[in-house]
Amino acid sequence: MKAAQAWRIGMRDTQILPLPRHQARLKKPTWIIILVSFVCVFLVFAYVYPLQNSGACYIILSSSCNTFSNWLPPSRELSDDEIASRVVINNILNMPSTESNNPKIAFMFLTVGSLRFEKLWHQFFKGHDGRFSIYIHASREKPVHSSRYFINREIRSGKVDWGKISMVDAEKRLLANALKDPDNRHFVLLSESCVPLRDFDYVYNYLMYINISFIDSFEDPGPHGSGRYSEHMLPEVEKKFFRKGAQWFTMKRQHAIIVMADSLYYKKFRDYCRPGMEGRNCYADEHYLPTFFHILDPNGIAKWSVTHVDWSEGKWHPKSYKKQDISHQLIKNITSITKSVHVTSEEKKKTMIMPCMWNGINRPCYLFARKFLPETLDRMIDLFTNQTMF
Ligand SMILES: *[C@@H]1O[C@H](CO)[C@@H](O)[C@H](O)[C@H]1NC(C)=O
Ligand SMILES: *[C@@H]1O[C@H](CO)[C@@H](O)[C@H](O)[C@H]1NC(C)=O
Ligand SMILES: *[C@@H]1O[C@H](CO)[C@@H](O)[C@H](O)[C@H]1NC(C)=O
Repeated sequence: MKAAQAWRIGMRDTQILPLPRHQARLKKPTWIIILVSFVCVFLVFAYVYPLQNSGACYIILSSSCNTFSNWLPPSRELSDDEIASRVVINNILNMPSTESNNPKIAFMFLTVGSLRFEKLWHQFFKGHDGRFSIYIHASREKPVHSSRYFINREIRSGKVDWGKISMVDAEKRLLANALKDPDNRHFVLLSESCVPLRDFDYVYNYLMYINISFIDSFEDPGPHGSGRYSEHMLPEVEKKFFRKGAQWFTMKRQHAIIVMADSLYYKKFRDYCRPGMEGRNCYADEHYLPTFFHILDPNGIAKWSVTHVDWSEGKWHPKSYKKQDISHQLIKNITSITKSVHVTSEEKKKTMIMPCMWNGINRPCYLFARKFLPETLDRMIDLFTNQTMF
């Protein structure tokens, strides 16, 4: 149809050209060349403009598009797979989010077996039926429950090896199951050593009334950061885009869906970010999502985790809180932190501090904390039920 129109217009344009009389008897080949040129110019315009309006403009005119302004500027030509992946992801991100009459938060517990703080979480959820859903991925043993909120909430789970891609697979399995319920609007990943620091309403409002995800992501040029990068991840994952972050995220629904949609970046981390890769240990659960979101939606994430952990002892593992550590003052100290701190792993450690911004307001950073030993349960319940402090 368009082509036929083009031919007609091309012909008419040629006919009205004010050609001097002696040129009117142009030789046939010259006339055909002029005609074909006009048609080509027309076709190029017809092709470029509709594409620009449909959002695929990036491929053709990179500078004048703002639909993709969230993307990091590519320093090279994107591959077919990357273009396809980015178009799908961008469309999901730009889709108006469907309304839910009963918006819920999905709490996803990644455990080995029984949840040691189930009684504490029961106190947390009590009185808020219908505003949350619980999912449990128990990788080794079937959990024994003490709370009715947790009964029959296990999803079919798989083996999880520390630091391997099976950890990411378990996270994706939890997200997939939680996404089945359209009322789940925000998704929280928690470990068995996590405890709540706030009451349910505070957590619900903090996560529900924001349009970003709390995914930790920072650049660590040291051996425990970019030192784990492998050039096998090229071209999609360049070293300068490689990021690190704690595994414990919260995610808005659109972000959970793009994690489901991704296989391109996932495969790079599955195959080339693993323990013992080229003599180095890379842990996909610390790098895949921080890097993925850094590349594809850097302004859509907070770049800190709402789950507090204390690395100040400078050991291989973070501080584990014991019974005698638990006090009103400890919880007060953690909940009054309003700045997020990242420390790089180079010999000359660099400390990066940024205020925790929530919809433009500097607010306390943390809703949850780990690692709490099982012996802290009773004290935590005592503190939690003392409503004056949470
Ligand atoms: C979130 O909402 C604010 C305004 O409410 C807007 O300026 C910002 O661009 C939004 N961010 C994302 C990632 O959608
Ligand atoms: C709380 O913070 C104060 C000031 O930084 C510190 O002196 C105190 O030891 C902390 N208390 C606990 C229990 O962490
Ligand atoms: C409850 O909190 C108040 C202050 O908010 C504190 O004085 C009191 O000791 C707490 N009670 C317990 C049992 O922790």
